[in-house]
Amino acid sequence: MAITSGIIVLNAAFLQEIKEDDVLLRQLLDQARQRFENRRWLNHSLRDTWRMLEALRDQLATHFTLEEACGYLETSLEEVPELSEQAARLKNEHGPLFQQICDLCEKVAQGVDRRRGPDWLTPLVDEFWCFWNHLRRHEQQEQALIFQAFQQDTGVGD
Ligand SMILES: [Fe+2]
Repeated sequence: MAITSGIIVLNAAFLQEIKEDDVLLRQLLDQARQRFENRRWLNHSLRDTWRMLEALRDQLATHFTLEEACGYLETSLEEVPELSEQAARLKNEHGPLFQQICDLCEKVAQGVDRRRGPDWLTPLVDEFWCFWNHLRRHEQQEQALIFQAFQQDTGVGD
């Protein structure tokens, strides 16, 4: 997840394939969403939630690594492709997104086996939805970029 200063282009076909194949990531995201939608369940299953978030964190690391290795390509071409700026911006979001899930894991871990006040969960829940919305926006923008790259390849929209 290194931030690079080179020109970044998209390998749209690989990026699309990585997204379609990552069933585990989608499952873990769905499980996390369900838990954070139900505070009572969340409060009573904090240890399980912590393990689940750690699995989500690890899967997200694999997902970003694959995307960066196969979906985003660094190039030194003189002719800068149109979508390179957006591709570089999205690739650089991986680091902050990963940091968000790491922070969340750590905070949930701190609450396991401790006496917790009634408001203890509120900032945690807010933080989860912040991460969730950020990741969802990131994924939507990557999908839009893949679509544009395919259109460019096939000459549609010229
Ligand atoms: Fe991504």
